[in-house]
Amino acid sequence: MNEKIDTSMPDERSFAPPADFAANAIAQAEIYDRAQSEGVEFWANQARELLHWHTPFTETLDWSDAPVAKWFADGALNVSYNCLDRHVEQGRGERVALHWEGEPGDSVSLTYAALTEQVKRAANVLLSLGIRAGDRVALYMPLIPEAVVAMLAVARIGAIHSVVFGGFSAESLRNRADDAGAKLVITADGGYRKGGVFALKPVVDQALASDGGQKTVQNVLVVRRGGNDIEWIDNRDLWWHEVMESASPEHEAQPFPAEQPLFILYTSGTTGKPKGILHTSGGYLTQAAFTHKNIFDLHAESDIYWCTADVGWITGHSYVVYGPLANGATQVIYEGTPDTPHPGRWWEIIQKYGVTIFYTAPTAIRSFMKLGSEIPDAFDLSTLRLLGSVGEPINPEAWMWYRDVIGAGKTPIVDTWWQTETGAIMISALPGVTSLKPGSAQVAVPGISIDILDDDGAGVPDGTGGLLVITEPWPSMLRGIWGDDERFRKTYWQKFGDKYFAGDGAKRDRDGDIWLLGRVDDVMNISGHRLSTAEIESSLVAHPMVAEAAVVGAADELTGQAVVAFVILLASEVGKLEAAEASAELRTHVAQQIGAIARPARIFIVPELPKTRSGKIMRRLLQDVAEGREIGDTTTLTDQSVLNIINAQVN
Ligand code: PRX
Repeated sequence: MNEKIDTSMPDERSFAPPADFAANAIAQAEIYDRAQSEGVEFWANQARELLHWHTPFTETLDWSDAPVAKWFADGALNVSYNCLDRHVEQGRGERVALHWEGEPGDSVSLTYAALTEQVKRAANVLLSLGIRAGDRVALYMPLIPEAVVAMLAVARIGAIHSVVFGGFSAESLRNRADDAGAKLVITADGGYRKGGVFALKPVVDQALASDGGQKTVQNVLVVRRGGNDIEWIDNRDLWWHEVMESASPEHEAQPFPAEQPLFILYTSGTTGKPKGILHTSGGYLTQAAFTHKNIFDLHAESDIYWCTADVGWITGHSYVVYGPLANGATQVIYEGTPDTPHPGRWWEIIQKYGVTIFYTAPTAIRSFMKLGSEIPDAFDLSTLRLLGSVGEPINPEAWMWYRDVIGAGKTPIVDTWWQTETGAIMISALPGVTSLKPGSAQVAVPGISIDILDDDGAGVPDGTGGLLVITEPWPSMLRGIWGDDERFRKTYWQKFGDKYFAGDGAKRDRDGDIWLLGRVDDVMNISGHRLSTAEIESSLVAHPMVAEAAVVGAADELTGQAVVAFVILLASEVGKLEAAEASAELRTHVAQQIGAIARPARIFIVPELPKTRSGKIMRRLLQDVAEGREIGDTTTLTDQSVLNIINAQVN
């Protein structure tokens, strides 16, 4: 990451906020000075202003047990009450919380009053199943209102949810349920995707049955959605609609300490085992609500907000569930894929609900760009006034297309950098304040301190690539890795002591704006989703045909990166299958083991892998090969000829 980059800005374009937007914006320029002068008290003020505290806090930050922070520790609140009841009590019960759109075209609009009632019933259901504060509940669901209800019900009783994205395999689900010691799984029979039903309950059955029986899960709650045939285990399985109907609609939310764990969310790291990122309540909700309100300029009484993320990812936690609902927003959620039943489905939804704020990922934007602007042009997108991007760097070309075609050449775009670990947005423009630069995430959020360091911890000059760090604790920071304190310390805190190491490369331009340069570790970013090279390698090696495997993320026009694997077969297997057949089988194997999102785009069967004298695979060289580049420095290779052999097979 230490290559010199010239100090000019990669893109000289800059767009000032439209005057009317700037004049009405919630966040004005003074907020930066205020955050600077108030220090941690800035966050205390946000916490008091944005949330309801059953017991007000008197302590703001306790960093004495670093790197485990405590925020607002002597305060008590109920996260679900903050997202629901208080809006109803303050007279906003009839405001729509969720406009839900199913893929087949069915839809439901739930007011804050209706959503609150459902969550109260669901909280009573959880209690009747013996779930108590601190217990873990795994969710494996399509994007239907019940997923939001389930998360808020778990939060309401002080239990901890662990949402597992519906695209993960049975084995991934089991590993996560085991690691967290989940007592209950909430799922659906199936959900809609690409015009058909994909089964979820059968995957749960498989996850719980494998290895002679999962130990901790006692019940499975099943929402009826797909109508697909499923098996039923009496005494374990319960229909959601049946238990919800008989549950009481009364439930008074009890306060929990600010540091009560709220959720675990698994994400890929640099080893084969995903990390259970732990978030707690008061600080998390404060920063989720603050960033949602200020970065998306939410005028809750008039805006219609839509974030396209699934609740299986952190974006769905912070910017579908907790941030928007804490702020009393009206939002759209959509179950299906963007191109079903036609490629204009998203734009049709924006037109139907009059969406004003839209938040999505660069991969989606690039795939629409490829299809052509005629598709969005056929819909009325004139209600949009703000666009957002998240998950990976957005290339200036896609940024401009997003602004011109979707945003009618005038909407501000906020490119938001953050991570599962940070819990909420850390780097972004403020849309009424910042002059926007296509491709740059720009500046630290007010109250957040960012720096870019070299390998030895010294600051790098502007224009030079370095490592992104967060220099001060922040309210929504992770509180640990579930069950693995040592890994928590080692991964994020060992390199720079009390500074959080994000794993991303970045540089500043001469205006001080930040440009993200991608991961500096063995983590890939495929369509804005994080995958670990090690996890896919160990899945490949687990196949009886495979002797060795190396995985790299190769640059891809559409998905940012694509998974490319190089595999050596066992001597006894060589020649049994055609290379194409062997790679097809291995691609399917990875999809079954981890989930479809991890399926390698390409697998090359090779006779050797490039290794150093100490036996380390030189992934950098494989990346050169996969990207069709001239191969870099090979002087440390044991056997220089292997690369020629690999290269001949690949290109
Ligand atoms: O590499 C960064 C990239 O996504 C990583 C975090 O992935 P995850 O925890 O899955 O969360 C994704 C949604 C917040 C980061 O380490 N990333 C995320 N947002 C951006 C980004 N890279 C560049 N620009 C962004 N706006």
